[in-house]
Amino acid sequence: MHTIKKLNKISPVIYDYLPKENYNVSSHLEDDSEGFIVRSADCHGMDFSENTIAIARAGAGTNNIPIDKCTEKGIVVFNTPGANANGVKELVIGAMIAASRNLPEAYDWAKTLKGQDGVAALVEKGKGQFVGGEVKGKTLGVIGLGAIGIMVANAASAIGMNVIGYDPFLSVDRAWSISMYTHKAEKLDELLEKADFITLHIPQNDKTKGFLSTPEFSKMKDGVIILNFARGGLVKTTSLFDAMDSGKVKKYVTDFPDDDMLCHPNVLAIPHLGASTPESEENCAVMAAKQMRDFFETGTIVNS
Ligand code: MLT
Repeated sequence: MHTIKKLNKISPVIYDYLPKENYNVSSHLEDDSEGFIVRSADCHGMDFSENTIAIARAGAGTNNIPIDKCTEKGIVVFNTPGANANGVKELVIGAMIAASRNLPEAYDWAKTLKGQDGVAALVEKGKGQFVGGEVKGKTLGVIGLGAIGIMVANAASAIGMNVIGYDPFLSVDRAWSISMYTHKAEKLDELLEKADFITLHIPQNDKTKGFLSTPEFSKMKDGVIILNFARGGLVKTTSLFDAMDSGKVKKYVTDFPDDDMLCHPNVLAIPHLGASTPESEENCAVMAAKQMRDFFETGTIVNS
């Protein structure tokens, strides 16, 4: 019987792959379990016992897992790249259009009409107040052409946007070959200078922390809209605030706000909802459970 501790709520579909006869999977186990399945719990403070041999992160990012410590202790770490890509893609495209058409502001305003006389006249006023821009014909810069970035790029192309892709880790030719409609930027500057919208799809690590900071903001178009559904630390907060205060960044739409951002008028913040759909949660759980099963039963290490 293998023991696997769940550190977060994980879709019960895992039991289809980790049957009760062979696996004791529970959130009530001790911390000396052989495996852990984790979604967002921060594992940096954990001291793994000798018994622990595998951790599966039911999601793409691994910045909540102490990779170096796991490597030292010989613990295998899995993640589930691509399993929630569609959920994130749909949210990014939706949020981009919502930001461009001023939907959050219009929703807030419409609620203030409740109980007032002359709603029809006020609605007429609202139409003028919340005029937005269409995205067709505008340029989207996609930074990071992994599973999510490619899907976002292709969806944006399908609604008539020009797409420029840049990936700090892939060669430009590789990036281009996997995204039919994306113009490959040889240098990040080309993307920064041309994009009306910029969306981030790279992992956060020592190399990418503060990836967008003052030099990058200074090259962007005035009034750019930035979407960050990857990780908060990719954007240097002080530089972002300067860029928003000067009007360089018209809106910063983020799934990873910090406290200071919540009150800034240019920030549209949501609470890490990118993969929060039953479909994505199930896809991640299935991939994580299969990875654990294959590892425990055959020693196979598969990450996709
Ligand atoms: C991810 O890295 O894919 C997300 O953080 C997944 C999640 O929301 O759990």
